Amino acid sequence: MENQRKPIVFSGIQPSGRLTIGNYLGAINNWIPMEETHDCIYSIVDAHAITVRQEPKALREATLRLLATYIAAGLDPKKNIMFIQSHVPQHFELAWILNCYTMFGELSRMTQFKDKSSKNADNINAGLFTYPVLMASDILLYQTDDVPVGGDQKQHVELARDIANRFNGLYSDTFKLPNPVIGKKSAKIMSLQEPDKKMSKSDKNEKSIILLTDTDDQIIKKFKSAVTDSLGQVKYCDEQPGIKNLITIYSIATGKTIEEIELEFEGKGYGDFKMAVGTAVADMLRPVRTKTDELLKNKDYLEEVYKEGAERAARIAQRTLDKVQRKIGFIHR
Ligand code: TYM
Repeated sequence: MENQRKPIVFSGIQPSGRLTIGNYLGAINNWIPMEETHDCIYSIVDAHAITVRQEPKALREATLRLLATYIAAGLDPKKNIMFIQSHVPQHFELAWILNCYTMFGELSRMTQFKDKSSKNADNINAGLFTYPVLMASDILLYQTDDVPVGGDQKQHVELARDIANRFNGLYSDTFKLPNPVIGKKSAKIMSLQEPDKKMSKSDKNEKSIILLTDTDDQIIKKFKSAVTDSLGQVKYCDEQPGIKNLITIYSIATGKTIEEIELEFEGKGYGDFKMAVGTAVADMLRPVRTKTDELLKNKDYLEEVYKEGAERAARIAQRTLDKVQRKIGFIHR
């Protein structure tokens, strides 16, 4: 039906350091086709990034670069709302309220909290602990149906759902219950050096990660030195985690199926295969990198996009916040 509302999508990425192809394939790349079928809202979640210490200048740069990357990757600012999280204070207002409807035990069970607190033992701040509540607020403010993320964020989206459910149960329907949407192939892109570990932008070993800022040469070099095994066959199986990861990446970059890839490299060595993956990824990322750099030269345009995005986002967010405040007994301003 023509007037039927499209389902709503919300997702975000932290502007902490540089993006990897994990972020690109696990998130942004899956967002692009959604602009036709959904009303999409994408945030650059700077408030999440400060749960780990950030250098202010670097945070500002990474925030703008991330917005430019969203656009360069193919997200149309006219069709999608794109905004910087700290520009829409409703996120913080709802987060405080939802803090009071989230249990200490629930937050203690979050794998990412356990992981990040062990990595940042000298700075286990309260923000790191309550981070999933801010994420729930991001999602719930927009009455979101679908949240396209990588597999590592599934637990957080499920918590958002639990919080929404609890609130709805106490006060009548207020929030839509969101669903995590996770790419089948792209759920977990692994480190190139330790293929049993997720590729992560905080990895100290540069050879483990492909950055969106890497040049063609750097990309190819990193794939050439990717860890494989001694079996010598390009086969998609759990016994060969390094090769499995490379097949996944190659499959997404080229659109070829796993069977086609296994056939293509039957009887060929890992050297040929790794070169092909490197070239395909370089081809995939080159236009995004070039366009990002170009967009970064036009700060006025980026400012226009994030200002308009924040205005549109705030209008939607305020509607939900008003409803919540009324239901819990806050007096209307
Ligand atoms: P962040 O910034 O760590 O990562 C951004 C997105 O990239 C995905 N991702 C991966 N996918 C596949 N393989 C990998 N190796 C890989 N590494 C990262 C993540 O799953 C994510 O989708 N808490 C979120 C940001 C956030 C958010 C939100 C997301 C804040 N509020 C509301 C959705 C909705 C985060 O830290 O993502």
